[in-house]
Amino acid sequence: MARCFVTRRLPGPALDRLGRLHDVDVWPERLPPSYAQLCRRAADADGLLSLLSDRVDAALIAGSPRLRAISNYAVGYDNVDLQAAAARRIPVGNTPDVLTDSTADLAFALLLAAARGLSSAAASVRDGDWVTWDPALHLDYDVHGATLGIIGGGRIGQAVARRAEGFSMTVLIAGRAGPTPLAELLERSDFVSIHCPLTAGTRHLIDAAALARMRDTAILINTARGPIVDQRALVAALHDGTIAGAALDVTDPEPPAPGDPLLAAPHLLLVPHIGSATHATRERMADLAVENLIAALAGRPMPNAVGVR
Ligand code: GLV
Ligand code: GLV
Repeated sequence: MARCFVTRRLPGPALDRLGRLHDVDVWPERLPPSYAQLCRRAADADGLLSLLSDRVDAALIAGSPRLRAISNYAVGYDNVDLQAAAARRIPVGNTPDVLTDSTADLAFALLLAAARGLSSAAASVRDGDWVTWDPALHLDYDVHGATLGIIGGGRIGQAVARRAEGFSMTVLIAGRAGPTPLAELLERSDFVSIHCPLTAGTRHLIDAAALARMRDTAILINTARGPIVDQRALVAALHDGTIAGAALDVTDPEPPAPGDPLLAAPHLLLVPHIGSATHATRERMADLAVENLIAALAGRPMPNAVGVR
């Protein structure tokens, strides 16, 4: 029996399966363990099941001499120091594929909601402003026939592209799998949706210069990772009308601190990192994360291992 630290309760039966095989310590609280608590609880663990909000860095790994499996409950793994894990030959796993369509659905929901101003229109009804049908109120942007620029042509980006076909959109893709140069994509797109991982090369990919290339009628959607966008530059661009709006599922940091200028930015729709948040998807992610852990603790390859990038 190995000792596993799981940093939060997970939906579905997967953790029960893990508990039948191993000694499982599940962090019981709603808020995550602090970094110090995380290090303390991981210190005598053989297996760690982490969330994207847990910083699994070189110091944590160095302070956990028994650790031989890190399973991240997310497709993204920018929170894990892969080099430090690889140096100790600790496999790192993620939960790809099962969340591709849920995340693409949310990206499209944000795109539609931002294009048609759903949050301000709904708020106006609640505020008692629906006094008559008005030819000139709540005018926003068409989605059908518009041009969608997708940054990152991986699984999620391609799933978003498939949805765009149903809306007769022109789709441009920039990134490893896409032929359009980023500058051209930014200049031509009515909507720009981000679907690349956060790496040293994509941090602040969307900075003031990138935002300035976008149309002043364009909307930016980010369901990937907050730091891919230079958030200060985005707030400025929303205030001065450089772009028409943004819809974000991810921010830098998460959550934004009270008083963060992002929270007061105009034309911004912000939701709390819910890309994969459906009952079915979160249960399937738990299954994959637990399978990764069980396999590695038994000395088998993780079904979904990630390599050093
Ligand atoms: C969520 O952001 C994930 O990476 O799974
Ligand atoms: C992540 O799953 C991606 O490849 O987009």
